[in-house]
Amino acid sequence: MNDWENPQIVGRGRLAPRAYFIPHPDETSARMGDPAASARYQLLNGQWQFHIAPTVTEAPADFYREDFDTTGWASIAVPGNWQLLGFGKPHYTNVDFPFPVDPPRVPTENPTGSYRRDFTIRDDWAGQRIHLRFEGVESFFQVWVNGHEVGLSKGSRLPAEFDITEFARPGRNVLAVRVLQWSDASYLEDQDMWWLSGIFRDVYLLARPATHIADIRIHAPADGKLKVHTTLAGKTDGYRVTTKLLDHTGRVVKPQPPRLWSAEDPYLYTLLVALKDAQGRVIEVVPQRVGFRQIEIRGDRFLVNGVAIKLKGVNRHEIHPDLGRAVPVETMVRDVVLMKQHNINAVRTSHYPNDPRFYDLCDQYGLYVIDECDLETHGFCKIKDWRGNPTEDPAWERACVDRLERMIARDIHHPCIILWSLGNESHFGCNHLAMAQRARELDPTRPIHYEGDYGLQTADVYSAMYPHVDHVKIIGGGTEAEIQAALKPSGTGYASKPFVLCEYAHAMGNGPGGLTEYWEDAIYQHDRLMGGFIWEWVDHGLRQRTPAGQEYFAYGGDFGDVPHDGNFVCDGLVFPDRQPSPGLTEYKKVIEPVKVAAVDLRAGKFRLTNRYDFLGLDHLRLSWSIVAHDGALLQTGTAKLPTVPARKTKDFTLPFSWPKQPALLNLQFTLATATAWAATGHEVAWAQFDLPVPVKPATPPPPRPLAVTQTAHETRIRGDDFELRFDNVRAVIAAWLHAGVPLLHTGPRLHFWRATTDNDRAWDKAAAWHNAGLHRLQHRVDEVVVEQHRADVVQIIARVRIGAPVIDVGFVCDYTYTITGAGEVLIETHGVPVGALPPTLPRIGLQLTLPTTLNRVSWYGRGPGESYRDTKQAQRFGLWRATVDESYTPYIFPQENGNRTDVSWVALADAHGHGLLAAGAPNFSAHRYSTMDFENARHTTDLVPRDFITLNLDHQHNGIGTASCGPGPWEQQLLKPAEFRFQIRLRPPAP
Ligand code: GAL
Ligand code: MG
Repeated sequence: MNDWENPQIVGRGRLAPRAYFIPHPDETSARMGDPAASARYQLLNGQWQFHIAPTVTEAPADFYREDFDTTGWASIAVPGNWQLLGFGKPHYTNVDFPFPVDPPRVPTENPTGSYRRDFTIRDDWAGQRIHLRFEGVESFFQVWVNGHEVGLSKGSRLPAEFDITEFARPGRNVLAVRVLQWSDASYLEDQDMWWLSGIFRDVYLLARPATHIADIRIHAPADGKLKVHTTLAGKTDGYRVTTKLLDHTGRVVKPQPPRLWSAEDPYLYTLLVALKDAQGRVIEVVPQRVGFRQIEIRGDRFLVNGVAIKLKGVNRHEIHPDLGRAVPVETMVRDVVLMKQHNINAVRTSHYPNDPRFYDLCDQYGLYVIDECDLETHGFCKIKDWRGNPTEDPAWERACVDRLERMIARDIHHPCIILWSLGNESHFGCNHLAMAQRARELDPTRPIHYEGDYGLQTADVYSAMYPHVDHVKIIGGGTEAEIQAALKPSGTGYASKPFVLCEYAHAMGNGPGGLTEYWEDAIYQHDRLMGGFIWEWVDHGLRQRTPAGQEYFAYGGDFGDVPHDGNFVCDGLVFPDRQPSPGLTEYKKVIEPVKVAAVDLRAGKFRLTNRYDFLGLDHLRLSWSIVAHDGALLQTGTAKLPTVPARKTKDFTLPFSWPKQPALLNLQFTLATATAWAATGHEVAWAQFDLPVPVKPATPPPPRPLAVTQTAHETRIRGDDFELRFDNVRAVIAAWLHAGVPLLHTGPRLHFWRATTDNDRAWDKAAAWHNAGLHRLQHRVDEVVVEQHRADVVQIIARVRIGAPVIDVGFVCDYTYTITGAGEVLIETHGVPVGALPPTLPRIGLQLTLPTTLNRVSWYGRGPGESYRDTKQAQRFGLWRATVDESYTPYIFPQENGNRTDVSWVALADAHGHGLLAAGAPNFSAHRYSTMDFENARHTTDLVPRDFITLNLDHQHNGIGTASCGPGPWEQQLLKPAEFRFQIRLRPPAP
């Protein structure tokens, strides 16, 4: 048995796991806190020599020898994933192992990377012990220094540290590392993500004095009784350890009482742990951040500093569109800042310990963390009864527990970490019990999370993925019997534990829909509910270019990788390049910390709910404005916020005067002072109220007669400044010219399809829509009647049957066109479904096409961003403007997008203001692409702008939901086939 197909071997020659820290030679350097400032730290990142072989056997056997000739070798960036640096290709699977399941054996075709570099040991390190540390290498690696074998390690997203003192020497040294893509450890690392290999996190040397601090244990409870326990290595006679606690200004303090840490007020102290020898000389100093806080479970409630907090979370994978899992620290900062700016307060490090610096950022900026063990054996679910699953086989106990020990040892000091997670989707076995027991020994202060513990055998919190909101309500407020009856779980005790949604609301493509219900109807209603983590933060698309140089993001299958799971890897709230997608904006609004309700709008009386867990509202400023429907700013003001303690409600009055025209009252809560993550004035929350004012109906313009002429197939209607031609054969407006300018490319027709979203397509629900032929309906015209009862009004009534080929389903419809001398076209539609239509329809609306010159869109309704009936909370009413191109959302996998809801009117005009205004459709979207262009495209670069604009004026849409993994739209958000009737008014916009 070799070392990489033997789960009993988890490492060799590694130092005992320890808390993550960088030692410094003295206090001055330690106070700077920056590793780079330490003379005891030497980063080995950079270009290394590299050779890749398709199998282990073909890798150069003696490449680690000092005299080995590396002529012809390539050079590679460390850290990096070799598949993204020109060697091999990325491969994406969700659940599936991409190789035959036969643990612990792995394929013969096992890409093997040989890495080499020289390093020089600084003269002032003479006499010190030299430690070599790897923060992450996937999946199995061996290390040699100057031709001597140092050791090996597994556990890709965990550190491995080696003492190389006996092999190293002053001056030049040769470091050689062999990395295998596959090992027995691959069976434990089957997370839903790209398979990527190599040295992907920092590699560095540390100089440690002969006697040094091997490990530190800090306990910083809320009472301020700080306990520090250090383990020393080497001879310890006469040595002693002293500690100093500094506040944020660097002053030595006694934290009695301490300022507590929370995600809302992430106050950190710095602890300096100094090792001194018998003469009192400082040997080394280790800085550690300390956050005092208390985590406890009391009954069915999960408390931080005594409060049943709400986790407004996201699941975050480590991924970068160009660099894979070698995520630069700037990207981590960007993620954390974006999260904070969007009211997110928690991260689950799905599904492995992250780069250690990520936790520093979470401590610093304030994010609660579920730290998850690098353990997922999901692919065994494809084998009957999970046969061979490592978590259920004692032969793998060491491997499972080792991962847990290393995670806890490394991360134990972070105040941000509030739960340890045993891993993800690994079924449940004896090794989970062993891990939980070990976790409790190592850290009795933090509870244990594991979603796969369905029977609640050991987890301290009840956790689930993607339940329906109705189930969350029952879990939140139900008795054990009610929970048992509704969910039929496999164990007991569900009502007596806190509940967390470790994953919910799958953010794939357009969506997730239905977030409000999770928060308003369930999570905020019950203290037992801890909140939840959206799946997931970021799309894992990898940036590629077409031969013509156009950028796009690749997903599973794009590299010829089989088997693969396509674009299931793109399901984030931000695009791969961290551009927020509409889902993130929606989440921000749903979880905003200040809610306002009108108590008595006329009297300016409002109710304010503070949804922070700890903060008052002193850090916010309230400003308000009244804006007329035509966009005119009528009144503005700022108001003093009442004092509202966390989680409390208070009424207050806003001194505005009721406007004389219909208007909107906007309330904005912004940061009064800058924070680490946003500038002064950053909007945290907002509210909006409609201020209705009755308007006198406009006096109708004097009648202007119409001239009507009929040809064999056409009705021509002429007014003062327009001409409209109606195609009597096809029952559609053939042309409409206003002041000689064409307003239409093709006339409006009823339309029922939308380019299926990932959520529509989920598990092939859109198949029902396809089977009903809704994407290729045909119009048969049964009758067209033209009537003119008055000189200034012409009416055209068209009766049609809109049906799918092959089958007998469709709609019997009529359109009534009323054309007036004022140049307005009113279209009244009416339809009755026929035949066995599917349970839901994608949309009901009119679709028309326009000349591309009409590319300036303005509308009154929700905006400025995209919204659908169950994803519209973040969009406020107003008068909005955008170009057609700006209103398109470039989902990685093209699909329905860009809708705007609750619209009173929309106008599309050219640069001179000529164009078309539509009123009456509550939804619209306008694109340079057709519905079927979006339906058929696989990447954004497949979309080629058309020489017309497609305008959808929709009466209704089906909800968006989150069925790509989870429930579909809520019942009340479904568009069910039924008789429908709506009317839309078209006219040129007023000049
Ligand atoms: C969950 C899993 C995640 C991811 C998600 C679907 O079941 O834990 O890793 O696969 O489904 O995107
Ligand atoms: Mg999985």
